[in-house]
Amino acid sequence: MEQKFFKVVANGKPRQAAVEKFKEYPEIDFVYWQGPGRMPPAYFEEQLAEADAVYSVGALRDPLGADFIEKAPHLKVLAQASVGYDNIDVAAFRAAGIPVGNTPGVLVDAVADLTYALILDCQRHLVAAAAHVKNGTWGQRKALGLGSDLAQKTLGIVGMGDIGSAVAKRAQASHMKVIYHNRHQRTDDEALGVRYVGFEELLSTADVIVVAVTLNPSTLGLFGHKEFARMKKGAAFVNISRGKVVDSAALYDALKSGHLSHAGLDVTDPEPLPGDHPLLTLDNITVTPHIASATTETRDAMALLTVANIMAGLKGQPLPAQIK
Ligand code: GLV
Repeated sequence: MEQKFFKVVANGKPRQAAVEKFKEYPEIDFVYWQGPGRMPPAYFEEQLAEADAVYSVGALRDPLGADFIEKAPHLKVLAQASVGYDNIDVAAFRAAGIPVGNTPGVLVDAVADLTYALILDCQRHLVAAAAHVKNGTWGQRKALGLGSDLAQKTLGIVGMGDIGSAVAKRAQASHMKVIYHNRHQRTDDEALGVRYVGFEELLSTADVIVVAVTLNPSTLGLFGHKEFARMKKGAAFVNISRGKVVDSAALYDALKSGHLSHAGLDVTDPEPLPGDHPLLTLDNITVTPHIASATTETRDAMALLTVANIMAGLKGQPLPAQIK
């Protein structure tokens, strides 16, 4: 039998693209935990004890930190198939000398497209309009109401990284004006055709607000009662970052009172959002189940970048996408 040199363990079922890619490396023994009901949790822990690398299938898993590192004494690299890494205690991995990789870049267009779709839905009520037709109420026009133009409206992006700027380009195609707020002003505002503003100014000026920040202690609960109250009456709110950036009860109040016209969320707190959650009783909200990067091409690209991160880590090289 062929000698395997490295054990790579996944904490869930990875994309088939990753399974196939690892087959190209005869030195890799790739195993994955198939999840509760299919395999006992003990299987994962047993594999982890021998793991040279861990492939984390996504950010919505258990937290990965010091306890996890203790269970994986041979670990040389951790790579997660997501851009967000708020579930990972990066400092603990750094202290243990274990590099951590994620998947920026490859998902930018897919996430920006879904964000733009949510902006469109907030302004044009596509989801409600389609349901209206399916419910057989076409013709009762009053039931539907009119949407709002995107053209000449102001989009306010909070968190203007690669995804934020890709959203800006899509909005500009609809002739929206774009303002943004970041911890640090970018150096390419003119090239992007966007304007940097303070957080307060963004809240009180934007017609549509998009949240694309990473979740960290400074963004946890960033949007609460005070922030929603500062938004323009009739503003729309889109969150594609992490649910915990928003106080769900405050968002509920802002939508219920009609202060906000509509919200589009791809992320919620908690996830999955239970079917009887108060937010889902509202007519002026569209919630998608955290699918912003969920296209075949993008998820495959994320899987392959995760494999590349692992292969580099096993060779002691810098990862192609290493979290600093
Ligand atoms: C998805 O939420 C990701 O972080 O990639």
